[in-house]
Amino acid sequence: MYRFESGDIRKIETDLIVVFMCSGMTGSPVKEIEKLAAKLDVFSEFSGKEGELLLYYRPERKWGKRILFAGLGDAGALTKEKLRKAAGKSVRKAISLKLQDILFVIPQTGTAGINSPAAAAAVVEGALLANHDFDLYKTAEKSNRIKSFGLYSKKSADSDVIEAVRKASVVCEGTILARRWVSMPSNDKRPDRFARSIVKAADNENITIVVLDERDLKKNKMNALLCVASGSDAGPKLVLMDYRPGRYEKTVVLVGKGVTFDSGGINLKSSEGLNGMKMDMAGAAAVASIIISAARINIRKRIIGVLPLVENMPSGKATRPGDIVFASNGKSIEIGNTDAEGRLILADAMCYARKRYKPDVMIDIATLTGACMVALGEKIAGLFTKDDALAKALLDSAAEVNERCWRMPMPDDYAEKLKSDVADIKNIGKGRWGGAITGALFLSEFAGDCTWAHLDIAGPAYTDSSSDYCTPGGTGFGVRLICDFLERI
Ligand code: BES
Ligand code: ZN
Ligand code: ZN
Repeated sequence: MYRFESGDIRKIETDLIVVFMCSGMTGSPVKEIEKLAAKLDVFSEFSGKEGELLLYYRPERKWGKRILFAGLGDAGALTKEKLRKAAGKSVRKAISLKLQDILFVIPQTGTAGINSPAAAAAVVEGALLANHDFDLYKTAEKSNRIKSFGLYSKKSADSDVIEAVRKASVVCEGTILARRWVSMPSNDKRPDRFARSIVKAADNENITIVVLDERDLKKNKMNALLCVASGSDAGPKLVLMDYRPGRYEKTVVLVGKGVTFDSGGINLKSSEGLNGMKMDMAGAAAVASIIISAARINIRKRIIGVLPLVENMPSGKATRPGDIVFASNGKSIEIGNTDAEGRLILADAMCYARKRYKPDVMIDIATLTGACMVALGEKIAGLFTKDDALAKALLDSAAEVNERCWRMPMPDDYAEKLKSDVADIKNIGKGRWGGAITGALFLSEFAGDCTWAHLDIAGPAYTDSSSDYCTPGGTGFGVRLICDFLERI
């Protein structure tokens, strides 16, 4: 898919050369480009501001077919995110022109404190992530895709650049895998099909996968999980993915909410509320993709994915509001609302994970509450943890990859809202307010004394609009974030 190039840039076969430029910079470390730009009088039309593009077709006799200048804004204020966006924008431009191959000139970013492996990786991330459209179900107009791209530097690329690019490309592939699962309609990813699709995707990796079915879940007394699945004809599954490298010091458990469709159950959602509820398995999609990516880049930690997969439907067999179930740890839960199903399946999944794997760290990723979207909007995930070091590591990763998270409070007294008159706990908080917090506090009852964090990704898991490197559909949110985190801790 990608290659490294060096030498005389004019002789390289490609459909499009992309040159990044900062505001007011007329020079280039590639002298041929500098001369060409002067001849074409590029800077009378192009200032290099962020988001700006200028395309030339057959710029000169000795040159290839096309050259695109892409603006990065002020050199001193350059960030990796600006590089991703400029690379993504260039790829979308190339896709619209139906081109096959692009050559990126790796920009010099030392003045902004970005080293060359990081700069090259950022360009690759923007390019690969932009090169995806969910067109699996279109029979007539398939979107064009870039087939291959090159990374050009004056001298041949150093090994640290090559390694950074390899990692970035694996993690972006993982992100796109998650996007595809999330964008897929619910009729093609009911728990059984989704589980098989995960098994297939992880097939060639050093990952042990076991899929527990309804009988196994009953044996394990996972009634909180089972009561969510009971309204659907599709049986529940619990997918266990175990990536275990030869040597490791830490065990990390990742739990992903996998509701393949959330109708709300007997507390049926409104027509508007039902829209988009195919994405309610985005946590599970992210976790499966993270484990596959982690295996491919040989992360030196044991990483376990625990994915409860269910469909939340109303029927004569469905759980009713007011029902009481006993979770696998023996706690009784009053079902206040069947639409607060995510925390029920996660409760049993987390109890199982803690007991079986005794992790050093556990993180759950879930499209848990609309309330979190009200608080933080569509682009920022809620981060809940009582552990400051874990919060810091996750926030550092979030800044690094620009998958934004905001730490939310978990005040003890709010847990009173979850009190039930008839059971140990209720699955909804009293009153309208603080729904994202009570959701997290409910989960904390099942995390025990484990070092644990909860990511509410209800907002950023899905997008209806295009941005520079993400088209409408699943966003794959969490994959780049957690892959970075796993390397960091
Ligand atoms: N899957 C939803 C949360 C959600 C809403 C995700 C919108 C993405 C977009 C979750 O299961 C849910 O329905 N939560 C309820 C909880 C309430 C009943 C306590 C909610 O947020 O309204
Ligand atoms: Zn729900
Ligand atoms: Zn849900």
